Amino acid sequence: MRRRAVPGNLVRSLTRAGRVDHCAPVSTHPRIDVARLRSDLLAFYDRARRDLPWRRERDPYRIWVSEIMLQQTRVETAEPYYRRWMQRFPTLDDLAAASRDEVLKAWEGLGYYSRARRIHDGARMVCERLGGEIPSTAQALRELPGVGEYTAGAVASIAFGEVTPAIDGNARRVLARLFDLADPSLAELRAIVEELIDRERPGDFNQAVMELGATICTPRTPTCGACPLGSVCRAKAAGTQLDRPMTKSRGKTPLREFGVAVVLDPESRLLMRRRPEEGLLGGLWEFPNMSIRPGEHSAQAARRAAAEAGAHRLESSSSTASGTLHPVRHTFSHFRAIYRPHAFSAAPVSLPEGCRWIEPPEASGLAMPVAQRKILESWRSAVGEKILA
Ligand code: ADE
Repeated sequence: MRRRAVPGNLVRSLTRAGRVDHCAPVSTHPRIDVARLRSDLLAFYDRARRDLPWRRERDPYRIWVSEIMLQQTRVETAEPYYRRWMQRFPTLDDLAAASRDEVLKAWEGLGYYSRARRIHDGARMVCERLGGEIPSTAQALRELPGVGEYTAGAVASIAFGEVTPAIDGNARRVLARLFDLADPSLAELRAIVEELIDRERPGDFNQAVMELGATICTPRTPTCGACPLGSVCRAKAAGTQLDRPMTKSRGKTPLREFGVAVVLDPESRLLMRRRPEEGLLGGLWEFPNMSIRPGEHSAQAARRAAAEAGAHRLESSSSTASGTLHPVRHTFSHFRAIYRPHAFSAAPVSLPEGCRWIEPPEASGLAMPVAQRKILESWRSAVGEKILA
């Protein structure tokens, strides 16, 4: 990726009357008064911030959990998970003592499950190796699994008051517009925040910038009239808000189709397998499934998956007309999936490692990906109720 060198002092070079080559002409640049900008932003935050549970505390464990949940996830989605999590694992010790299955179950539906595995590993690391004390600087926080530059900056500034940037996607957009930058590098953005950040309230400053991006300086329909920084925003002055920052079009994500085997043994137990710890949906439970090969029917792919999971003497389930259940769609960050489930019955055999016969009520308590849970529900309504009745 192209990276510009950071000029000696970017903010000063931008805020002085001088022209910067990648900006609009100087006549459209209102000058920025840093003290005024800080107080306007903080006043906005004090007045208009959303009342969120993690904003009522500075407990580093709670801030850490909230920031991990907020990675790639909207506040509205994360909030109910956060509340349930804090009931289930109120302290770092509770999290460290929990099993992997309990942690994944609490994360079920939130996506990007490596976040749950990493914060669980991180909690254990802090308890076992750091005497239960969460590190208090951005630099030290980065040693924890799953904590990158942004999360380290957020936790250090919010929980410990360190004067350090926290630049997520929302903050990037706000800053790119404020200075009318088409494609700012992280180094440039860091340099800007280091200059602007309020020395007394760094955590609130960082959150105010992110909050502005989430609520006013939104990607497609910014409400510039309500913006506390409207009078100094260079993109607003130049009319370039919607082009700042430039977005790279991602193109269409590929489609992948899977045959899924919902296999029942004569004791009405379901065949399920646990995904390997690492990788997509790691550690979650699912029905055996395989990618459908070109020209293959989804039932054949499902049969291959069932055989690999140890099921033998498969019969198409007589409880559905053709053994076929409703397809389920799910969009991941890098591909779209269609799962085509087929119900079978099979002989009860001992299974390879990672696979188990599960009583249907027990399946409700397992951590499963959203699409797999939908398959379970569709099987329950098509077949299971008859069997379970
Ligand atoms: N996005 C990620 N963390 C946030 C926070 N603490 N406040 C607002 N938006 C955020």
